Amino acid sequence: MREQHTSIRRTLRICSSRRFRFLFACVTVFSLFSLLFSRLNTVTGQRTLSRYANRIPSVPKIRVPTSDSILNDFRQPVNPLPREKNDIFDDRSGSEKLLSVPFSSALALALDEYRSILPPLEDRAPIYCYHDPAAAEDRTTADAESDLLLTWRRAWWAHGFRPIILGPADALNNPLYGELQRLDLEPAVKTEITRWLAWETAGGGLLSFYTVLPMGPEEDPELIFLRRGIYPKLIRWQGLDDGLLAGSQLDVLAAIKHVLASSEPKQVKGFLAAAPTERFQVDDMPKPIVYYDASLIKTKYGKVNEALNDSRARGLKSLNLLINSHLHAAWQNHFSDGIAVMKPLPEHSTHMISDARQLAVSLSQCSPSPMVNSCPPNNDQCNPCVSSRPMHISTPGRYQNISTLYTIGTVPHPYTTALLRELRKEVDIPWIRWNSPRDPWLRAATMGLLGATVSSAIRVVRFKEMVASQYGTAHSLWLTAEKLIEEDKLKDYLDWHFGFAIPYDQDRGYSDPGPGRRPKPEHDPVDGPVANEADLALEPFLLQRARELHVTHNDVDGEEGGDRHQAVAVRAAIEAWNLGDTEAWKFATAFLAQRIVERLEWEKDESG
Ligand SMILES: *[C@@H]1O[C@H](CO)[C@@H](O)[C@H](O)[C@H]1NC(C)=O
Ligand SMILES: *[C@@H]1O[C@H](CO)[C@@H](O)[C@H](O)[C@H]1NC(C)=O
Repeated sequence: MREQHTSIRRTLRICSSRRFRFLFACVTVFSLFSLLFSRLNTVTGQRTLSRYANRIPSVPKIRVPTSDSILNDFRQPVNPLPREKNDIFDDRSGSEKLLSVPFSSALALALDEYRSILPPLEDRAPIYCYHDPAAAEDRTTADAESDLLLTWRRAWWAHGFRPIILGPADALNNPLYGELQRLDLEPAVKTEITRWLAWETAGGGLLSFYTVLPMGPEEDPELIFLRRGIYPKLIRWQGLDDGLLAGSQLDVLAAIKHVLASSEPKQVKGFLAAAPTERFQVDDMPKPIVYYDASLIKTKYGKVNEALNDSRARGLKSLNLLINSHLHAAWQNHFSDGIAVMKPLPEHSTHMISDARQLAVSLSQCSPSPMVNSCPPNNDQCNPCVSSRPMHISTPGRYQNISTLYTIGTVPHPYTTALLRELRKEVDIPWIRWNSPRDPWLRAATMGLLGATVSSAIRVVRFKEMVASQYGTAHSLWLTAEKLIEEDKLKDYLDWHFGFAIPYDQDRGYSDPGPGRRPKPEHDPVDGPVANEADLALEPFLLQRARELHVTHNDVDGEEGGDRHQAVAVRAAIEAWNLGDTEAWKFATAFLAQRIVERLEWEKDESG
């Protein structure tokens, strides 16, 4: 009895001791926190999941309010142009159409799932070029012209326009065509008016020659004005002659009628001379637009001029190379701080970012040119591309928002991240639950912008801004680590994304000072740690394993079974655990796919 009493008394004494009270307080606080966090998780989890589930097929362009601030960047243009039938994201065309796009089914699914939260594609203002293929004297000239037209289309597409080639058939469809034929005009003037008629048939907008190209940063105010697609009057520009014109259909029509009504057709020396001056507004030479006309070529680009004098076909080929190299050089000059290939998890992602790195290397080289070291016509002070001193390429761990630095990101699925981070062949659910960090990739990537304390939800919003805002698309490109997009399709798209033919296998060649004299590459601490050989050797295998997770049922018909179920469960678990990383991955994947599809669909329409 006595013994019992002492033991009770001792227990009581322990309970009232200070240390015990402290312990008790800790336990209480901890359990409260756990409760709160598990609550929070289910809430954010539900919100994200419901967003996936919440597909509203009949009204796809509705603004889903979940993406908060980022949507500010996706304002519809004030005066939206009529959407064309090729708008595949209009849902009536539905998912069959999406799936008919030749992608792996995993990608098509990701795109389908994400359509409702992707920013609507910007309407592209049309820019027309009148071209009569029959006018070329021979086959090689025609080929050279069509190469130039490709360069022209690519450059304007990259700058946010919808480049369209018009032909004699468009002029023929104009009701005024008959009237033109009846007039007794100089042949050159007749061709000129035919060009205007085709433009009028197409509905007005911008009319350009294929030697007029945009060579300025996306955010240039004059390009922004042109992209808006609304022109109060007929506009011409000093120094561009009739190389670039802008105007609404009504104004174009009025000008044509005025010229056709001329009392002495034989005296008409040119369209612009005969057109009513009061309808025109003449603006200063726009800085970001260049026009390679005969006099410019003669004064500045002698080699091309010689080639032109020799034969038109040879000259146009040479001019095409020159223009392409200038477009590339203009891009390189704009991004004077070089290219950042993002590497947020630096220890084991060397292999994962190798495609991005390879692309950066290609972009940093010089395009072939008949006049190496020449500058674009609108920038005599440029730093010409010198192959011994290519653009700087870094591999920083964090996104840096510098306007003269181009970022190429590689976004991994959280499963890929897990395998590579841990150098594990596989992961299981208990490991995910107890040992894995949440959203490691997104956290690292946005650390520079947001610091260490903010939530994944905020990071995701910022990440979407990095990828998809107007500023983002002009300053960065985001690939995914799992190669869901076929390589040739991606390569083809990239030329249109950047607006020039990327020199993939350019020989660094002649100006290499030789191995002995080459400066030793110094390791820049910004580039993160260097992986050791043994780990590096493991990466390709692990990455391959990670990619296999995204092979869907359709792609591997018949191979069912426990493995598959296991993989699906692990995938679900890892996605639920890493909501931020998953969302970033899906968004980046779908965004890139959307861009590629936009272009493919447009090309299909164009070729028709
Ligand atoms: C063009 O070629 C002709 C002969 O074919 C030659 O007389 C003339 O000097 C050349 N012009 C230039 C600018 O090379
Ligand atoms: C980067 O900076 C620009 C302005 O310099 C800003 O408009 C943009 O929102 C920034 N992007 C991010 C992701 O912070």
